Order: sequence, then C-alpha cells, then structure tokens
Amino acid sequence: MADPFVTTQQPLAGDQKNPVLLSSGPVTVRNLSQSPEDRTFLGEVMVDGFEGKIVHATSRNKLPLMVKYYENSTRGRPPLFYERYLIAEYNGERAGACVLRYHGDSERFPERDEDLPSYGCCDMFGLCLLEVGTHADIPEGKAYVDHISVSSKFRGKGVGKILLDTADADAKKRGCKSIFLWVSTANRAQHLYERQGYVLKETKSWCCGCCTYCMTGEKEFALMEKDLQ
Ligand SMILES: CC(C)(COP(=O)(O)OP(=O)(O)OC[C@H]1O[C@@H](n2cnc3c(N)ncnc32)[C@H](O)[C@@H]1OP(=O)(O)O)[C@@H](O)C(=O)NCCC(=O)NCCS
Repeated sequence: MADPFVTTQQPLAGDQKNPVLLSSGPVTVRNLSQSPEDRTFLGEVMVDGFEGKIVHATSRNKLPLMVKYYENSTRGRPPLFYERYLIAEYNGERAGACVLRYHGDSERFPERDEDLPSYGCCDMFGLCLLEVGTHADIPEGKAYVDHISVSSKFRGKGVGKILLDTADADAKKRGCKSIFLWVSTANRAQHLYERQGYVLKETKSWCCGCCTYCMTGEKEFALMEKDLQ
C-alpha cells in the first residue's frame, strides 16, 4: 500500500476540463477555486452552519469578520490546499462545503497572521478557546472532516450526503483506512453520519461539561469514525 503521508500530501491529478468530483441528481461537487465568489461563499456557508459557535466565541456583530477570515485565508495558497475544500452545487447554485484535513496539514498550510481581520482581545480569546476545544490530532492514514456545512435553504435535500460521499472518495484515493469527525452530541447531524456508516467511538467533555461549554458553546462531543477498507 502507498505511503499515506506521501499520498495525502500530493495533489491528485485533477481534470481541469471536467472539475466535477462527484455528481448525483441535481448535486455536483468540485474543489474550491481561488475566485472571490467561491471564497466568499465558503465564508458565508461556514457562518451559516456554525453561527452559534462563532457568536458564542465572539459576538453577533463579528459574523462578517469570520466571512472575511475565510476569504483571506483561502487566497494565494498552493494547489493541494484547494483540494481540501469541497464545494457542492445544487442545480448550479453553490449550496454547501466540506473541509477535509490530513496528517501534516497544519504544518503544510499554516495560519497566516495577515489573514485575521481586526478582532479585539476578547474576541481573539474566545476564538483561541474555540480552537483548543475543537482541535483534532490527525494520525497518518486517517482523513478528518474538519467542517461540513450546507446553506439553510438547501438542507435536507441530500447535499450533505453527497459531500460526505466525495470526502470518502478523496480519502480512499489518498490511501486512508478511515475517516473521522467530531460532532456535538446535541447535533442531529449524527443521524446523517450514522446512515453514512460512521460509528460512535467515544464521547468527550472537559470537566463536567461546563468547561466545554465555556470553550465551544457545546457540552459534549462525539468522535465518529468510518472504516474505508
Ligand atoms: C449537517 C448538514 C451538513 C447536513 O447537510 P444536509 O444537506 O442538510 O444533509 P442531507 O440532506 O444529506 O441529510 C439530512 C440529514 O442532515 C442532518 N440535518 C439536516 N438539517 C440539519 C440541521 N439544521 N442541523 C444539523 N443537521 C441537520 C440530519 O441528520 C438529517 O437527517 P434527519 O432528517 O434524519 O435528522 C447541514 O444540515 C448543516 O449544514 N447543518 C448545520 C451545520 C452543522 O451542524 N454541521 C455539522 C457539524 S459536525
């Protein structure tokens, strides 16, 4: 079997003429491009899906800054970086996104200070806590679903399922044996993950859950993993 570190850190030979990774009915999935429209959509769909967590960490009037952060942090990166971002379209309209991570990605694609919009100290503190509370170590040979979000108006139409199918395909192509994610135990998205073949591995909270709540706005998280072999 190929060395997973090598395969996860090499761009896949994409077909530039046909960038569609997966297509099912009205849903097609492709990688993120550098276009301003794609980068703004990514920010908007992440804010749509994770509004509660972002507001918990900062405040409601800082939501536009999070869109700006996604716009900035996805500009001028190497080709492999864009393969980590899956964009789903529904009848040609951008509808959802999924962010994948592999072992070594945090060193390969470091955060850039200049990408951070002007948050105040309290907001930065909240965002740091959120990062600590939701950080995941990614072992070699495993793929990690860092974020998945579908715009409110497209939810429940199968977009999330197709994004997860595409994530599986990407992970398999890169030689991974499994794919995993963390989800709040209060999030009904667990039903979708179970249907997709993910299995509950463990649940985690810091202290009695109060600390977890302070950091993330959620009381408990579940680790779910899917065998790809
Ligand atoms: C979770 C999510 C990506 C699924 O995408 P989707 O296109 O709605 O999913 P599908 O249509 O393929 O499947 C429907 C399933 O999605 C989940 N889902 C649908 N709406 C949801 C919502 N508002 N919040 C959380 N999960 C939702 C449910 O599991 C649903 O199955 P159920 O009706 O049996 O409970 C999407 O609903 C979303 O963006 N939710 C908010 C962000 C989020 O919670 N992301 C997951 C963090 S781990």
